[in-house]
Amino acid sequence: MSTNPSPHLRDLAAPRNFFIGAAVHTGAFSGDESDYRDLLQREFNVLVAENMMKFGELSRTPNTYDWTHSDALVDFAAQHGMKVRGHTLVWHQQLPKWVTSSQWTTHDVQTLLEQHIKTVVGRYRGRIWAWDVVNEAIADSGGYRTDSFWYQQLGPEYIALAFRWAHEADPNAILYYNDYEAEALNPKSDAVYALVCDLKQSGVPIHGVGWQMHVGEGWRVSDGHHQNAARLRELGLELAMTEMDVRCQTPATAAQLESQATSYREAVEFALATCSALVLWGFTDKYSWIPRFRPGYGAALPFDAAYQPKPAYYAIQQALVGTDEAAQAQAKD
Ligand code: XIL
Repeated sequence: MSTNPSPHLRDLAAPRNFFIGAAVHTGAFSGDESDYRDLLQREFNVLVAENMMKFGELSRTPNTYDWTHSDALVDFAAQHGMKVRGHTLVWHQQLPKWVTSSQWTTHDVQTLLEQHIKTVVGRYRGRIWAWDVVNEAIADSGGYRTDSFWYQQLGPEYIALAFRWAHEADPNAILYYNDYEAEALNPKSDAVYALVCDLKQSGVPIHGVGWQMHVGEGWRVSDGHHQNAARLRELGLELAMTEMDVRCQTPATAAQLESQATSYREAVEFALATCSALVLWGFTDKYSWIPRFRPGYGAALPFDAAYQPKPAYYAIQQALVGTDEAAQAQAKD
């Protein structure tokens, strides 16, 4: 087992009423690497499935679900006193082939989506803290994402319907809209804001907005982050950082890793004051999605591929320790 020093992140976060989490990689979690699971339960108090709860992973053949991995994750979290974020009910990616390659009527697609949401949310009713109900429904330039099976089949109405169905299936789960690059002020975050305003005004049960936070090592908190957070919170929505990683060009230099640590420290400080949770998209560079999806980049997480803590880990730790004033300011709401 790696010997990352105590205090562990979750022990620092808990007294501050804060949740620090990580996405769980299916292969690593279900394999025989005890380091992986030990570190998860030692450092984090919230987990999310990186892939296990996506429609295409749960359902490989029509109307059948394989809960092996998702059940194991939810059980592990319960055993170790961790909360679970559910990710994700409605997304344009990682859909089952049997869904995307069939011919459907609008009515059939609506029934399919309702059944999917109610099946998954219902199975974990009372055991999932928050759900990413709809993921990435806004285009990068603003407006609805149109290259989506759900949008093409159902029009923009699918978004409100999804929240209503999820709420029926688990009235206590906190329901999120989640997206990337909509963190600071830009056309996309304006469109997300317009969407969630509209949902709130229509009485749709939406409770939070997730900022994915897939960023690069130069990332810093800006006025735009504060302004966007403020307007979302004025709507009565909570905020969470849901998928944070901070990619570096590889091989990463010591200077880049220090700069990355600053990104993490600023994000944690911001999140302590503004968000209910900060969830990392993994925790070890060994299993990060970045090198596969962004060739030439990597080293994005606070532990290296040998499970050793990097400067980013210590920066998160220090930010969670904070100062007395920070802790008082944090006795928020
Ligand atoms: C990614 C996973 O990390 C990969 O393993 C998978 O192949 C593709 O999806 N936004 C999201 C996540 O909401 O679900 C994505 O996860 C990363 C971007």
